[in-house]
Amino acid sequence: MSLKYTISGRLLACLDSSCWIAHAQHARHARRLPLPTHLQIRSYSHHAHNNPKTSISWAALASRSAIAVGVAAGSLQLLTDDSYDNSHGKVKATKIRTFRLAEVKQHDRTPGLLGGTSVYDITDWIEAHPGGEVILAASGGSLEPYWDIFTIHKRPDVYEILEQYKIGEIDDADLKDGRVPHDAIVDPFQHDPGRDARLVTLTPRPRNAETPELGLREFITRNELFYVRNHFWVPAVDGEQHKVTIELTDGSERKYTVKELKERFQTHKVTATLQCAGNRRKSMTEGAGPTNGLQWRAGAISTAEWEGVRLVDVLADAGLNIEELPTDAQHVHFSAMEAYGASIPIRKALDPWGDVLLAFDMNGAELPRDHGYPVRVIVPGTVAARSVKWLSHISISPDESPTQWQQRDYKSFCPSDIKNPNWQSARSIQEMPVTSAITHVEPTRGERGEVESICAEGYAYSGGGREIIRVDVSMDGGRTWHEAELLDAEAKVSGSKAWCWRHWRYKGQVPDDGKTVSEAVLVVKATDEAYNTQPQTYESIFNARGNLATAWDRAKVS
Ligand code: MTE
Repeated sequence: MSLKYTISGRLLACLDSSCWIAHAQHARHARRLPLPTHLQIRSYSHHAHNNPKTSISWAALASRSAIAVGVAAGSLQLLTDDSYDNSHGKVKATKIRTFRLAEVKQHDRTPGLLGGTSVYDITDWIEAHPGGEVILAASGGSLEPYWDIFTIHKRPDVYEILEQYKIGEIDDADLKDGRVPHDAIVDPFQHDPGRDARLVTLTPRPRNAETPELGLREFITRNELFYVRNHFWVPAVDGEQHKVTIELTDGSERKYTVKELKERFQTHKVTATLQCAGNRRKSMTEGAGPTNGLQWRAGAISTAEWEGVRLVDVLADAGLNIEELPTDAQHVHFSAMEAYGASIPIRKALDPWGDVLLAFDMNGAELPRDHGYPVRVIVPGTVAARSVKWLSHISISPDESPTQWQQRDYKSFCPSDIKNPNWQSARSIQEMPVTSAITHVEPTRGERGEVESICAEGYAYSGGGREIIRVDVSMDGGRTWHEAELLDAEAKVSGSKAWCWRHWRYKGQVPDDGKTVSEAVLVVKATDEAYNTQPQTYESIFNARGNLATAWDRAKVS
């Protein structure tokens, strides 16, 4: 008797026997069938004489190392004794199996991925999956919500690959109007935390939200108003049990619980601004043309006092010889619990004035879940994409992180490289360039309601620990400039360099140059201690990804 498990594929390279055992046991419960005794491997070659067959007993199958099958367009079937025909190698009924939804849901690791009404077993694909084990998050549920996040999968070639892993269909009894009912599909974001309604939401799932004006005008951003940039769901973590693994280039590993990190190493506070590479992307779109990515205004930036232990101390404790670095120790990779990962150059990680932290507190409170609980990396002065949240693994490598976010995102290009930018040769963004933004304009009106003067406020920030030394504003499009007042001089900050934004304020008369008030535009630009200043236009720094949108900021006075 056949258990009706069939996988067909162009090339099945390596089988994970545990998955098949799971199948078989599963089917036994569901259908009261005897446990299969043999696995038969058969090619679907059109040439009968070229149709290799083989069979393996469960004993051999259970030793996982055993099976490496190179079957071109083959099929694999689980057979019980009475269907296994050793002399003729023929298999009786081999029809696609139907699964009840409840069965699919039981699988937390191996089979049971459902797309539309099809059921897939992607066990063998996990190793080769470019996105790593994140695919397992969909086990026992639907692929669809994940593919809404990872839209790169919505392509014919990916569907084709998936089809090779199809093992069955959902039983008609569980379908409604031919579809899996909506409430049967598990929402990957179901464990996301509640959020402050004042955040300016761009996307709810995954959560992406800007700090509102109130938060942008305060030096320290309150935790609940700190901008949120999540590529996926927020992992549900047991903070007591969670461990961070450090892996060195020789393969040696050391694991630390968060409690161990706190007890074993001296803790440090660092006040630092985090800014997304896409902050002010919307202005680039409006100023120079369409860009690809979340259309952030000026609120993908916030400042907090972070507390944690120095990465350099932990790396040294884990065995990295920081006095005499191995030559292959060039980059530090950070991997997170959902799927995210990024890296920084090792010179930043080991810089005694670099202040790179493994942080567990934010503004005196435990890290909020949205911001990386129980532990995240803080890389001051560097694009926030490298400050990996929900940190689980750190490794030292000769190369940059292979992740999408290091290799194919968070880079910038020549303004005319629109269609096919060279992702490989472009440098990943690390230290941030100087920028500024207007967050508030308050007009004072004369007797007839006309705007006479304004009070404007905003922030200015530069990466690499470079201090903001001046902010200039213009009310005539950049012909004449006035120096704004730099605020926050009294703010209490910790850290070795100028890792924080500076607020600025400007009070002045609206120029009487014959224009109507509605035409008057306030322009701002900042200069940092290296005398770097902002470019005038978005055209000159345009990149189709919309990163590093640092041109002069503008706001209508009225
Ligand atoms: N870390 C993980 N694990 N997952 C993420 O999606 N987003 C990165 C970075 N670290 C991200 C991450 C990006 S692009 C940014 S801008 C910052 O986190 C945002 O940090 P915040 O949400 O605490 O403001």
